[in-house]
Formats: sequence, structure tokens, C-alpha cells
Amino acid sequence: MAGGRRAAGLALSWGCCLLLCCAAASRLEVSTPAVVEAEIGGTARIECSFYIPDNDSYTYIDWFYVDRTNSRVRLCHVTEGEVLKDDTDYKERLSVGEDKALSISKVAMQDARTFVCQVGAGSSGVGESHTELHVYKVPETPEIDPNPAGISVQSSDIPQIARCVSRNSFPAPNITWHKNGEQLQLQENQVKYTRTRESSGLYTVTSTMFAPVTREDRDSRYHCTVHFWLRGQRHALESRKVKITVFYPSEHLKLQVMPPSSLVKEGDNVKLVCEADGNPPPVFNFYKRELEDDWQDLSWLTEPDSGVLNLYGVNKSSSGLYICQTLDLDDMTQLEKEVELVVNYIEEVRVEMEPSSPVKEGSSVTLSCDAHSPVALDYQWRDEKGQKVAEGNQLFLTNLTFETPNNFSCKVVAPSVPGLEQSKEVSVAVHGKPRIVAISSPLYVRQDEVVNLTCKAIAVPRPSLHWNVNGTAHEYIEDQHIASNLTVRVSHDLLKAGAMCRVSNDLGVSEKHIQLLDQRTTAESQGVIIVAIIVAILVVAVLGAVIYFLHKKGKIPCGRAGKQDITRPEARKDKIVVEVKSDKLPEEAGLLQGANGEKRPNADQI
Ligand SMILES: *[C@@H]1O[C@H](CO)[C@@H](O)[C@H](O)[C@H]1NC(C)=O
Ligand SMILES: *[C@@H]1O[C@H](CO)[C@@H](O)[C@H](O)[C@H]1NC(C)=O
Ligand SMILES: *[C@@H]1O[C@H](CO)[C@@H](O)[C@H](O)[C@H]1NC(C)=O
Ligand SMILES: *[C@@H]1O[C@H](CO)[C@@H](O)[C@H](O)[C@H]1NC(C)=O
Ligand SMILES: *[C@@H]1O[C@H](CO)[C@@H](O)[C@H](O)[C@H]1NC(C)=O
Ligand SMILES: *[C@@H]1O[C@H](CO)[C@@H](O)[C@H](O)[C@H]1NC(C)=O
Ligand SMILES: *[C@@H]1O[C@H](CO)[C@@H](O)[C@H](O)[C@H]1NC(C)=O
Ligand SMILES: *[C@@H]1O[C@H](CO)[C@@H](O)[C@H](O)[C@H]1NC(C)=O
Repeated sequence: MAGGRRAAGLALSWGCCLLLCCAAASRLEVSTPAVVEAEIGGTARIECSFYIPDNDSYTYIDWFYVDRTNSRVRLCHVTEGEVLKDDTDYKERLSVGEDKALSISKVAMQDARTFVCQVGAGSSGVGESHTELHVYKVPETPEIDPNPAGISVQSSDIPQIARCVSRNSFPAPNITWHKNGEQLQLQENQVKYTRTRESSGLYTVTSTMFAPVTREDRDSRYHCTVHFWLRGQRHALESRKVKITVFYPSEHLKLQVMPPSSLVKEGDNVKLVCEADGNPPPVFNFYKRELEDDWQDLSWLTEPDSGVLNLYGVNKSSSGLYICQTLDLDDMTQLEKEVELVVNYIEEVRVEMEPSSPVKEGSSVTLSCDAHSPVALDYQWRDEKGQKVAEGNQLFLTNLTFETPNNFSCKVVAPSVPGLEQSKEVSVAVHGKPRIVAISSPLYVRQDEVVNLTCKAIAVPRPSLHWNVNGTAHEYIEDQHIASNLTVRVSHDLLKAGAMCRVSNDLGVSEKHIQLLDQRTTAESQGVIIVAIIVAILVVAVLGAVIYFLHKKGKIPCGRAGKQDITRPEARKDKIVVEVKSDKLPEEAGLLQGANGEKRPNADQI
């Protein structure tokens, strides 16, 4: 390396010398650079300049090299217009330029020797100059290998950090070590340096670095750098940066409930996550406090090689104090951390009914819902379809009937714990004697016709239906109603007496009569109606005329009510019509809304 620096110095002084020589100009002067550097495999060029006094020209130029025994070997003989190469190893690799400079191609390690330029100029005599040819090879980018086994901060001797190899260079370079970009000042015992010479003559240099590590070094990045001289300048090549595996015991533990305790509800899967800052992670153990100082080992619920305890489907009894304990196998130190798990729950959901079920039709009840939980609760009521019908812990139901929806649920929700809810179903039973809701009466029939008598009722408990006439009964259920069709042939007796539908259960009996009307008789009554209507209209007209007449004569005092009656005769007429109809034919009025509506068109036709 020192040679490189010297070469630069010599090259400079050679330049000065040339100037001096030219200035002096008294005798034959030959000059070449003191040192020429050439990269192995490249071409070396040695220039030779000379000064011949009295305008003389040279007669010859000879190039030599100096061999190991310090004797000269001629390479070539140059005269005006001719270059004569001697039979040496260089014959194929050398050439002489226009300017008489010697070029050697494919420079090899052995070419590092002294070359001589000798100029002969007749009467001016002979002059010569020597040049050292230095050869070099730039090293390859160094390779770094971190300690593959990892290093413990507790190791007693100084551990090996990494090894750095710089291959195939000449001369052998220096290697320095760096951590996080800063060069390390290392003691002699911290670096092991080996240098091997390859068969090519090039050097391979290995540097192994030893240093103590701390836990912070888990993030440190190390690299090595090779340094070499080139044309008088320092050059450097850096290796890649590597991290080393550092082993250190845990110093801190963190124990967490996931999801957070305040959101844990019964049935959830809960993880207790224990984290230690040691490397490698220590051995984890979990315990739950059952009683005072009685710890239950839960390690069998731990995921292998991790600090995660899995609790599946927790319930109230999973609440309590948990502890995570670590054991560092390196130095056998123990650490522990506790956490409290709270499992939120809703239990003992009760619905009370006042008065208690079953209740009578038409009465009212109050449903009260109550539950137990460590968190605040909200109450809602829902019907059978899941529709919300009320909020708050009470539900009032009035005027209950058999038909009122009777199944409700009380939904208890904990607003602070998403998803925590419980429901309780309640059934409000309405009991009572049967109620006949539809009956085919009156029924317009013809004698000997086969007709259906229909009776429909509702009750809880389920009632039974009976007819007082013989026929084929067909019972069926429609919604909550029970109905019966009795198919009968209309006999004279039946037409006269009608039929009776009797519905009964434990709580009572209801009966309804079906009136059978002969359609012919009905037709007659229709006639009567028409006559009655006509008569009524006539009566009204006559009455109107009389009143009008009397009023004109002034016999009746002119009151507001009286005036109205006369100015709006139409309204009055209608009223009378309806009255007459309903007086004379209550059956007809019933028919308008009756179950057996199909008979009406018949009546109208006649
Ligand atoms: C050298 O030769 C050149 C022409 O070739 C001439 O001009 C010059 O004067 C000569 N110098 C000497 C010192 O003879
Ligand atoms: C290599 O180290 C030697 C001795 O410390 C020193 O003289 C030389 O200059 C160094 N070379 C480089 C390229 O730094
Ligand atoms: C809670 O769960 C444990 C097991 O997971 C079970 O043994 C226990 O009976 C459960 N307790 C209740 C009140 O459900
Ligand atoms: C109860 O219901 C019946 C039939 O739906 C109705 O006629 C009655 O007016 C209701 N009574 C009250 C107090 O709401
Ligand atoms: C109400 O709930 C009871 C059981 O609780 C069920 O048997 C009945 O069918 C339900 N009623 C209706 C109308 O869904
Ligand atoms: C019962 O009789 C009525 C009247 O004839 C009829 O409309 C109805 O379809 C019958 N019901 C059944 C279930 O047969
Ligand atoms: C009468 O009732 C029976 C049985 O319910 C039914 O099959 C039949 O169709 C009904 N007749 C009429 C005319 O509706
Ligand atoms: C019904 O038929 C039975 C025999 O089939 C008879 O004894 C009874 O008198 C009949 N009842 C009526 C009301 O016709």
C-alpha cells in the first residue's frame, strides 16, 4: 500500500525532472515514470521520453526488464522504422507505440518488476531510465456472514458477531467493521484476520469480529468494509448490512383480555394474551385463582409455544383473577402478571302476570319482566312475529279476547355489552265460555232442498259443537275458530222449527238458532214490502201536502224545526223507508250482514 502512495509521489517528481532536463539541455537525458500501476488483466503503458543535444537523432531504443537474478533481459530493439522483438515471454504481449512507449497487454502478477528504457544516440552516447511496474487487483465486494447460532447477552466470553471475506485482490486490502454505520474501534482480541494467497497470486482476506452484545443490538445492523489504494487514492467497498440474532431474557410481561373484559359476555370465546419482551419467548403458564391462594393450572388450554390462553364459551364462573407466569430457560428467571376477567351475563329472566293466567275474556293483565345482571338492563316486549310492541319492564294488555295474540316475549338487553341479551316467553291464556261468531241465519231454502247449516264459534278450552237435527256434520278449524257444516235435507218440520247450534266447553254453553225461511213465503213478503213502501210514500206525500197547506194558511206557527222538516223532505222519506223495512223484516236486515250472503241475490230477483 505504501508503494502506491510512493508511486504517486514519484510520478510527480518525474514530471518535474522532465522540465529540468529540457531546461538543462546539455547531455542525453532519458526519462520514464518511476512507477506505473496496471490492473491485472489490463494493459500497462510505460512512456519513454528523451532529450538528445545538438539536434542529434537516436540510433536505437532498447526495452529491458530486470529479472529475479537482477540481470537484464532485452524485450525489443527499436530503430528508425523498425521494431525487433526479442524472443521472450513478452513477445506476444508487447507493442511499441509511435511515441516509443512500451505497452504490455494482459498484465499478470509476474509483470510486477522493473523495466528499463535505453536510448542510444551515436555521439551523444547512451542513456536509460527505470520504471517499476506495479500490478493491482480491485477486491470483490466483501461478503458478510452473521453468527448463525444467535448470541446471548449473557454469554460469558466475547461472542463472534460476524465474518467478513474479501476475495481475489492484490495487494491484500484492509477490512474495517461498522455497527449502524459507525466504524467500530476494536481491540486486538476482537478481530481475527487471516490472509490466504490464491494460486492466481491474489489474496483472499477474512476478518472475524467479536464483540459483546446488549438487548438493543437486536436492531443493530453490522457491515464490513474493504479498503484499498488505487492510483494514489483510497477506495472502499462495503458489504451488505446484516442483523444478528440476540438472545435476552424477558424484562416485562403484558397480559391482556381480548376482547376487553367490559365487552365479554357469556358464551364468548375469550383469549388471554401474555406477551414477554424476551428472545426467545419464555415458557408461559396460566393459572386461575379459585379460592384464596388456590391456583388452578390452565396451561393445558394454552396454544403451544405461545402466550395465548383460549377460553371457549365462557360463563359467569369463568370470571376471576388470572395469572400469566413465564420461565426463562436461559437464566431460569420467573416473571408474572395478573388480569381480572369479568364475564357479563343476564340470568333469572322472569315474567310475572297480574292477575295470573288464565284470565277471562274482556279482562286486562299486567306483565312484569325482571332479570339479574351485573350491568344495567333495558327491557322490550315483542309479539309472536318478533315485532316490538312496548318498551320498559311492564306490558299492559286490556280487553283480552280469545283472538288477541297471546304469546309475548320479554327481551332483556344490556346496552353496554353488545350482543348480551336474553328473552323469556310468556303466554297469556284467555279462558271463557264459547262465543258464536257466525251462524247461517236466516237461511232461505226450498223444501226438500239439501242445504248446509253453518255455525262458527271460538273458545278456550276448545269447545264442542252440536246440532239438534240429524244430518251429516263436517267440522273444521278456521284460524282459531271451530266451525261445523251440517248437510241436511229441508223437511217440513225443519223448515218450521229451524235448527239449533250448541257450543259448549267446561266454562259454559252458547246456543244460536238458525231460522229457515221458505223462499216462496219470502217472495210474498217482498210483495208486502213493496206495497208498504208505496203506501208509506203516499202517506208522506199527503201528510206533506196537508202540512204545507196549513202552513200557508198560517195555522201552524213558523218554527225553525218545522221549516227544516219541510225543506228537506227527502231525508225524512229515507228514514221512514229504512224504519219500515227493519220493522217488518228484521231477517232481511240480518241477511245484509249474515254469513249466508248468497241468498240475497235470490231475494232481489223476486
Ligand atoms: C536543429 O535543426 C533544426 C532544423 O532541423 C534547425 O532549425 C536548428 O537550428 C538546429 N539547432 C541546432 C542547435 O543545431
Ligand atoms: C491498511 O492498514 C495499514 C496499517 O494500518 C495502513 O498503513 C494502510 O494505509 C491501510 N490501507 C488502507 C487502504 O487503508
Ligand atoms: C361454566 O362452564 C364450565 C366449563 O366451561 C362448566 O363446567 C360450568 O358448569 C359452567 N357453569 C355454568 C353456571 O354454566
Ligand atoms: C273490547 O273489545 C270489544 C270487541 O273487540 C269492543 O267492542 C269493546 O269496546 C272493547 N272494550 C274496551 C274497553 O276496549
Ligand atoms: C303460543 O305459545 C305456545 C307455547 O308456548 C304454543 O303452543 C302456541 O301455539 C303459541 N300460540 C301461537 C298463536 O303461536
Ligand atoms: C260449509 O258450507 C258453506 C255453505 O254451504 C260453504 O260455503 C263452505 O264452503 C262449507 N265449508 C266447508 C269446509 O266445506
Ligand atoms: C256443504 O258442506 C260440505 C261439507 O262441509 C261441502 O263439501 C259442500 O260443498 C257444501 N255445499 C255447499 C253447497 O256449499
Ligand atoms: C235422528 O235420527 C235418529 C235415528 O236415526 C232418530 O231416532 C231421531 O229421532 C232423529 N232425530 C231427529 C230430531 O230427527
